[in-house]
Amino acid sequence: MADLFEKFKNKGSLGQYQQNAEGYYIFPKLEGELSNRMMFQGKERIVWSLNNYLGLGNHPEIRKVDEEAARDYGLAYPMGARMMSGHTDLHEKLEGQLAEFVSKEQAYLLNFGYQGMVSIVDSLLSRHDVAVYDAECHACIIDGLRMSTAHRYVFKHNDISDLEKQIKRAIEKVGDTNGGVLVITEGVYGMSGDQGRLKEICELREKYDFRLLVDDAHGFGTLGETGAGAGEEQDCQDEIDVYFSTFAKSMGSIGAFVAGDKEIIDYLKYSMRSQIFAKSLPMPLVVGNIKRLEMLRTQPEHKERLWKNVNRLQSGLKEAGLDIGKTDSPVTPVFMHGGINEATNLTRDLRENFNIFCSLVTYPVIPRGQIILRLIPTAVHTFEDIDTTIAAFKEVKRKLVAKEYPNEFALGTV
Ligand SMILES: Cc1ncc(COP(=O)(O)O)c(C=O)c1O
Repeated sequence: MADLFEKFKNKGSLGQYQQNAEGYYIFPKLEGELSNRMMFQGKERIVWSLNNYLGLGNHPEIRKVDEEAARDYGLAYPMGARMMSGHTDLHEKLEGQLAEFVSKEQAYLLNFGYQGMVSIVDSLLSRHDVAVYDAECHACIIDGLRMSTAHRYVFKHNDISDLEKQIKRAIEKVGDTNGGVLVITEGVYGMSGDQGRLKEICELREKYDFRLLVDDAHGFGTLGETGAGAGEEQDCQDEIDVYFSTFAKSMGSIGAFVAGDKEIIDYLKYSMRSQIFAKSLPMPLVVGNIKRLEMLRTQPEHKERLWKNVNRLQSGLKEAGLDIGKTDSPVTPVFMHGGINEATNLTRDLRENFNIFCSLVTYPVIPRGQIILRLIPTAVHTFEDIDTTIAAFKEVKRKLVAKEYPNEFALGTV
């Protein structure tokens, strides 16, 4: 018999790479105020890794409200789950404002997006139902499906004809089980930056009977005339049955919410196990999120600045010959080809010689031989940050193509 823990010795999920990468590529420490420039290993770098799209994470008006709320309520209040003793007027107030903002009858707060979504998926589906979901859906959706007893059919990422094929299969299946069909997609895909094709998905409802759940983590606050997200942007918000977003991105905070018709939200609040059996959002977060939502709604200048930066960065990268794929959101992936070792050398070069910090994605997250450097522009970046970054990317791409990066793991400076 083996010792249960034997298998963990000296090998994490990435084996030797994990040990060499920790502290530099994985679990790096960014220090200082959340901003366009932060300290990494003692030096200031331009940071492109934060989903602080609107720059609210560290806005002085918000910091003041956060501070006051922590002073007035402490971190504990209210204690317990919403249903038991963790419910307040201010939780309800924020829910009312969120529902109005995303044009839904009712909203319900979730203590974290990830757990919230796991339970939304789990609660909406029974063993008689079929979930039809995009192949690139976030882990929280996949994990909800893993937990659920429903049948699941996956469709190729953003491929409407494959989706239609899977919906037809699903409808045939529920003919036998007497269940329903739930299509699950995202407003914006966080790795590739392309919007879920919500409008076209909604058009399929003219032919097929299904319900639609949208995770709009990256669309909320960044897309649509008022910032209400991908449904507003694509003029189909009313067609989304269950709308979800997190406060962890545009709102620069913690927590999340789900919104829809009163009947479905009432059902969810009595069913989502991750909420029923866990503490509700503490008051400083509720008060802080009320303030953030107010700023998101009433100060369009943050979104305007974000988009000026997005447009300059994306058009500049394209003009410099870099491949940013199909993004139509602020998420800006730069696709390159090379091995993991070359990718580490390139990333180290960007950090140490150009003072640019961005996230690196390689195998096993994406296929072997591909490299993604993901840039997240925000309202607090400057044109100087952007122009410096475009020039740096042009140079590191040239070096990569010229095979100037050694095929040896670059340890960084730790
Ligand atoms: C698409 C998507 N859904 C859900 C989540 C989870 O949100 P939270 O960070 O609030 O748990 C994330 C966050 O990374 C996300 O990108």
